[in-house]
Amino acid sequence: MTDAAQPPVNTAELYMPSPEVVEQAIVKDYDALYRRAAEDPESFWAEQAETLEWFRRWDKVLETARAPFYQWFVGGKINIAHNALDRHIKTWRKNKIALIWEGEAGDTRTYSYYRLWQEVNKFGNVLRSLGVRKGDRVTIYMGRVPELMIAMLACAKIGAVHSVVYGGFSEQALADRIEDAQSRVLVTQDGAWLRGQIVELKKIADEAVRRSPVVEHVVVLKRTGHEVAMEPDRDYWWHDLMALPIASTKCETEVMDAEDPLFILYTSGTTGKPKGILHTHGGYAVYVSTTLRYVFDLKDEDRWWCAADPGWITGHSYIVYAPTILGATSFMYEGAPTHPYPNRWWKLVEYYGITVMYTAPTAIRGLMRFGAAWPNRHDLSSLRLLGSVGEPINPEAWKWFYEVIGKKRCPIMDTWWQTETGGFMIAPLPITPLKPGSATRPLPGIIADVVDEEGNSVPPGQDGLLVIKQPWPGMLRTIFGDAERYIRQYWSKFAEKGWYLTGDSARKDEDGYIWIIGRIDDVIKVSGYRLGTAEVESGLVSHPAVAEAAAIGLPDELKGNIIYAYCILRQGYEASPALEEALKNHVRHEVGPIAVPAKIEFVSALPKTRSGKIMRRVLKARALGQPEGDLSTLEE
Ligand code: WTA
Repeated sequence: MTDAAQPPVNTAELYMPSPEVVEQAIVKDYDALYRRAAEDPESFWAEQAETLEWFRRWDKVLETARAPFYQWFVGGKINIAHNALDRHIKTWRKNKIALIWEGEAGDTRTYSYYRLWQEVNKFGNVLRSLGVRKGDRVTIYMGRVPELMIAMLACAKIGAVHSVVYGGFSEQALADRIEDAQSRVLVTQDGAWLRGQIVELKKIADEAVRRSPVVEHVVVLKRTGHEVAMEPDRDYWWHDLMALPIASTKCETEVMDAEDPLFILYTSGTTGKPKGILHTHGGYAVYVSTTLRYVFDLKDEDRWWCAADPGWITGHSYIVYAPTILGATSFMYEGAPTHPYPNRWWKLVEYYGITVMYTAPTAIRGLMRFGAAWPNRHDLSSLRLLGSVGEPINPEAWKWFYEVIGKKRCPIMDTWWQTETGGFMIAPLPITPLKPGSATRPLPGIIADVVDEEGNSVPPGQDGLLVIKQPWPGMLRTIFGDAERYIRQYWSKFAEKGWYLTGDSARKDEDGYIWIIGRIDDVIKVSGYRLGTAEVESGLVSHPAVAEAAAIGLPDELKGNIIYAYCILRQGYEASPALEEALKNHVRHEVGPIAVPAKIEFVSALPKTRSGKIMRRVLKARALGQPEGDLSTLEE
């Protein structure tokens, strides 16, 4: 079963990089670098690791003895926050801008590396004073504000494990994630600004904490200033804590083992509850910084804007960690791209002189709708490179981005990767000839292939499973608290071969370019956001009217996919438009706005296998008017 925007494999159209881009590129010869990395991956990765500051050098680059529990830079001691901050303030970068931030209302803040380091130190001390110790989990539920980045880096600095929950998730989703991580501290804010409205983060957090009472302390950032309830002896204002003598600007950095956990990020999988993807200090730091340097060619003069949310992996890797490790200048914007008008993003590019911009196809399609007149009002000549992530980019959006925004000067780095991979896996370099809709080839150090069910490489042009044949430093280490699921989900399909199963289907063309088709499991990508059918379904069945539910993703021009849900009602409930509305509201409340089905259909039965599994592919085929395929296992 394939996903939405299917990229046509069009090998005829080749976009060559401009001489300006080639001249500046850090990597000038992809083939040579790829070959070198393939011949001796360990020395390749060791070389990348040399660019970081280690407290103790590793004894062994890669340990495979307990595969698939691979270990990287074994024996090495490091802290990612030390590499992101401490080491810069010993150099001229102390005075360099680390972060420029603009709020939705137009308020701005700028942090030098020195200032960011101080704020992180202060908050690290605050967390320690709340009893947070090395290895403890801290849940962070915030909007797109600098303090989100500060809180994450502070956790890293003191060796705590952060679990950031995206602000678009709601009560039950947050409660489940707090519960699974067993976080005793929650960091949130009164509210977040979005489209001129307040998202009631504190209110949602209160309900989540009521459902998951493991939380002992809640730190609340004042952002909107509207009235929120503060529970005595549990809730503290961020600014009050940061004003205490304990919040000194000096904070000792915890010496971490390369393999010590850095964060958990929950993502959706095939079944059941969200999976806590676990990443570590050492390999992750090496991987995200290397990939950002190679793919986006970041230089000291650049102004980098990754428009993702820090609450997703893209923001973790390419807003918070990789740019700071490289000592780059980042820009972050709080609000909606269309607020107050659809030129907001382009205005920001012009005003801040952004040179490299990284976003998602859904955002491009969304802004494209408003026409070229909006970007054309602005001088976008500062841009040098563009990027895309999250889903296949349809050639129409690619061309608009390339022509209208990049003025045919800026190559588009279409980066394929996952929460699990930590960083870019299949992506062009600035020098790579591009084909709209293809993420091109695997990065140096990555061995990717498209194979059939038996593991044979499929010939060019044929669909197959996308696999990664060799471990890489940024890979997930496990699923938090569920090592067995980690093995089953990613490593059992090709266990003897030791390959990582991505969950995506893809195609290769004659040039070895990879074209991602979409997910083969029950993951739906809605506006680039990754959701499990199970999350939507459990949101629906938690409503008293619903006996059973099934959710599927259907192609949508703007969002890539939309959620379509089927519900069987309990006795005593009548299908009606009002009930459909009530159920949508319920999902919005429990799981979050991103999980709300576009349409709910009331049915009397669902197609199931004999073992009771819902056959979503049958529902999908039916909804799309396609052949339903093999129905031999169908029971109902
Ligand atoms: C999809 C996001 C095509 C893919 C970083 C993957 C893409 C899933 C691309 C991971 C791309 C991501 N082209 N598809 N450039 N980038 N995907 O974990 O299906 O939120 O498996 O990580 O997004 O989503 P996740």
